[in-house]
Amino acid sequence: MSETTGKLRALLGDIPGFYVGAAVRPDRIAGEPQYAETLAREFNMLVAENHMKMKFTQPRRGEFEFTAADAVVVFAQANDMAVRGHTLVWHLAVPGWVTERELSRGEAIDILHTHIDAVVRHFKGKVMAWDVMNEAIDHDDPTRLRETIWYRAIGPDYLDMIFRRAHEADPDALLFYNDYEAEGMNAKSDAVYELMKDLLARGVPLHGVGLQMHISVEDFGPDKPLNAQTLAANIERLGALGLQVHVTEMDVRTPNEHAPEARARRTEIYREVFEVCLAQEACTAFLTWGFTDKYTWVPKFFEIPDAAPLLFDADYQPKPAYDAMVEALKHYKERLGT
Ligand code: XIL
Repeated sequence: MSETTGKLRALLGDIPGFYVGAAVRPDRIAGEPQYAETLAREFNMLVAENHMKMKFTQPRRGEFEFTAADAVVVFAQANDMAVRGHTLVWHLAVPGWVTERELSRGEAIDILHTHIDAVVRHFKGKVMAWDVMNEAIDHDDPTRLRETIWYRAIGPDYLDMIFRRAHEADPDALLFYNDYEAEGMNAKSDAVYELMKDLLARGVPLHGVGLQMHISVEDFGPDKPLNAQTLAANIERLGALGLQVHVTEMDVRTPNEHAPEARARRTEIYREVFEVCLAQEACTAFLTWGFTDKYTWVPKFFEIPDAAPLLFDADYQPKPAYDAMVEALKHYKERLGT
């Protein structure tokens, strides 16, 4: 075991209001002691990788299923960890009973309201921050909203509705908009910024933006559109709106994992993103999408067998990216004089 193991959470302990977390699979928490032990030792925030999505929480109309999600919350509470809720409204992981036919506006509004009421009330006081809306902006044309089942039935004002409803259901939860490829300064992050400004101008309860940060080693660097400067600039402008920023789903896929330069790049990317988050006042949480390369969505989704995108290897040993984050935390605290 590396001598730095366990240092991440120990160092975090005395930074109030700052969280480092990971997405988790409840069956692994229950079934694999090393999985659960590593989580409890290293992180102070969790998010369910899948089990708070609509398909899992409301598999049949009006029948809510919280067993798996509750297990995540119970584990988090037992280990004094905060919980992010992911996600109330999305175009994916929607149950078949919603997608099997076109919905009228009234019916779609009713479905969303009923869903948000039940889920947010169930986790009231237990979920610190909700991804109320996931990926509402169009993939190809960021100047438009994505034509989801919700958008088609309700129109653009569905966003206002869901944030207001979530706020009524749990006025203490922080409400987030979460999206991908909007980390640096680009057309999509401009669109997120404008959308957030509009929501806030209409008095919609909105407290933060999640930057997913599913990236490749090729995507981040001094000569790339996404780098430490553009990430900092984007977080800063969102912060200037009064919003918090969470890095919500970081992983760094490494198609050429067997090349030492690629592995070194990955380590540096984790260091730099984490350093930017620590340095920016608005950035209050940093989460990776999983934590061990044993369980990651990347190989299947991106068809990269050996992508090794996370902080721990498949045997739960910390990788150099983990050590880089520990170092970044130490330097941060030295500068603060704590
Ligand atoms: C992914 C999960 O990791 C997979 O297990 C599942 O099959 C599909 O969803 N952006 C998000 C996450 O907001 O919810 C997605 O999670 C990854 C992309």
